[in-house]
Amino acid sequence: MSIEKDPEINESDVTPKEVYLDRREFMAASVSAAAAAAFPALTEAGGHGGTPLKIDKRVDYASKEEQTSYKSAASYNNFYEFSTEKEGIAELSKDFRPRPWTVTVEGLVKKPKRYDIDALTRLFPLEERIYRMRCVEGWSMVIPWVGFPLDGLIKLSEPESNAKFVEFTTLHDPSQMIGQRREVLQWPYVEAIRLDEAVHPLTILSVGMYGEVLPNQNGAPLRLVVPWKYGFKSIKSIVKIRFTQQMPITSWMQAGPQEYGFYANVNPNVDHPRWSQATERRIGELLRRKTLMFNGYAEQVAALYAGMDLRKNF
Ligand code: MTE
Repeated sequence: MSIEKDPEINESDVTPKEVYLDRREFMAASVSAAAAAAFPALTEAGGHGGTPLKIDKRVDYASKEEQTSYKSAASYNNFYEFSTEKEGIAELSKDFRPRPWTVTVEGLVKKPKRYDIDALTRLFPLEERIYRMRCVEGWSMVIPWVGFPLDGLIKLSEPESNAKFVEFTTLHDPSQMIGQRREVLQWPYVEAIRLDEAVHPLTILSVGMYGEVLPNQNGAPLRLVVPWKYGFKSIKSIVKIRFTQQMPITSWMQAGPQEYGFYANVNPNVDHPRWSQATERRIGELLRRKTLMFNGYAEQVAALYAGMDLRKNF
């Protein structure tokens, strides 16, 4: 297995910001600072305190539904590695260190590799993807993610012909993630999708949101985003991507197999055993809205499940 770059110490401790930040981010930051001086309106989209990202392409996949405010998206989070309380995650994760960071690609691939996060990000044009997101608990948001299709990394890794699933693992570091000091889930957090779901063009790896680098509470520095599935599939702070032949046991399947199936497709016709999934509360709205099959992405993804009983394969 080859290693792209594996810094031993935390570069941000000893290096000026412009050196340890990805050069592209730094250039974007300085360009936008200059632009702000000349044309203040140009920087309105960012301005949430994070590092701006240079975006190569923008696509709205949420039918122009109103975007959730940055404030809500960054302060109402599920991230059990820090807490099971949604409101406290931003504060509890503020000292989390998303650099230096490596992501290992392994298992049934011809090109296993350990990537430095910034080297990995530089391999792909960055896209802004505006997606509806639906949590299994019944709330939803519309979020402008920044990232790149997972398919790009899969192509580079060259899966073996017997690879059928892709498994993702979150960092395990109870010294930084205080929620991991309690066994509320089996750590590290593991999620997985089928290979055909992984190469689907809607599936992305995200490094940012609202035009800026991902805040720690939203899964810095790298998270999965699968918009037609319940939010728990979109695993945060990924350190490992493994290709397997057998269906992996995910953290939520392990915690409650009757409640959380492998597929976790947003499906208003299949209730969670303890509550209905027919409607959802869009954060920022008063009335509940109807939940859409596959979270509104049926046209793009329904064919992946042709012939499957989605009540059994929930
Ligand atoms: N990833 C990890 N590692 N740990 C978690 O607890 N929670 C999941 C998902 N990814 C979770 C995770 C759940 S339940 C949801 S709804 C989304 O993250 C929330 O993502 P957000 O905070 O960006 O809205």
